[in-house]
Amino acid sequence: MTGIELNGKTVICGLMGDPVEHSVSPAMHNAAFHRLGLNYAYLPFRVSKEGLPGAVQGIRALHIAGVNVTIPHKTSIIPLLDEIDPLARRIGAVNVVHNKSGRLFGSNTDADGFLRMLKEQGIDGHGLHAAVLGAGGASRAVCFALASLGCEITILNRTLQKALDCADDMEKYAGRTFSALELNTHNLAAALEEAGLIVNATSLGMAPRADESPIDRGLLKRRHIVVDIVYNPVKTGLLSQAQKAGARTIGGLDMLAWQGALSFEIWTGRRAPLDVMRRAAAKAVKRYEK
Ligand code: ATR
Repeated sequence: MTGIELNGKTVICGLMGDPVEHSVSPAMHNAAFHRLGLNYAYLPFRVSKEGLPGAVQGIRALHIAGVNVTIPHKTSIIPLLDEIDPLARRIGAVNVVHNKSGRLFGSNTDADGFLRMLKEQGIDGHGLHAAVLGAGGASRAVCFALASLGCEITILNRTLQKALDCADDMEKYAGRTFSALELNTHNLAAALEEAGLIVNATSLGMAPRADESPIDRGLLKRRHIVVDIVYNPVKTGLLSQAQKAGARTIGGLDMLAWQGALSFEIWTGRRAPLDVMRRAAAKAVKRYEK
């Protein structure tokens, strides 16, 4: 299926999470390995919360070159690794592990992936006011990325305390304050009035509940740039609403491909074939959409 011939020298990478069945990362990475003619393979590993310490030990024991980490392990894996990149530590989430001769290094390519995506889209964050919806691992990566660009940020989350914690941590990082609000229509209306950039980093709108949107229709305006980090479906309810309002939209596949490309580069030391990865991810999502 991948076009990769496995043999005794094949280098193994993979994904640790639960669930992993619908991940598009295997399709994306194996397409990239194949394109560059690398003798690598990327496998999905379903790992329970209880199984995580054993699985991390398994990375060392099995000489797995590297893994991506997804829900629910992005935070709980941190104390199990040997070294954590400073930004990943501040974000509080690791999505990539690199095995260097048995020492495991954790980093976060969600933040850098988001920045690369913005740059590719020609969006200059300086002076921009962003409203970020969500305060989980993905949202924190987006917030730290935006803070590093000098953006003003309002974080809105269903659980207010998590938004406050994120704003506090960012203040320590950036040396300035950020707003944190409960995610509700009243607060959204106020935040979107000021915001030029809106990022949905909640899981609302993800298949199978694709018709849900975190934002009421009337609040989106032509002047907004709307980013949805949900990539399944490719066109979420939020993105359709935003398009109808005349706003510019960016779907989640771009950030996904960028974080994947940066992971690939960490493991292989080779430049990732970004477009190959993006196409493979889009094709895999379409398969799940059917
Ligand atoms: P990820 O690693 O993808 O960020 P996560 O850490 O589980 O995943 O975060 C999911 C985010 O989506 C959280 O901000 C969550 O809000 P809570 O902190 O209140 O749980 C948000 N989210 C999930 N379901 C939601 C819903 N039905 N309404 C509003 N927000 C929701």
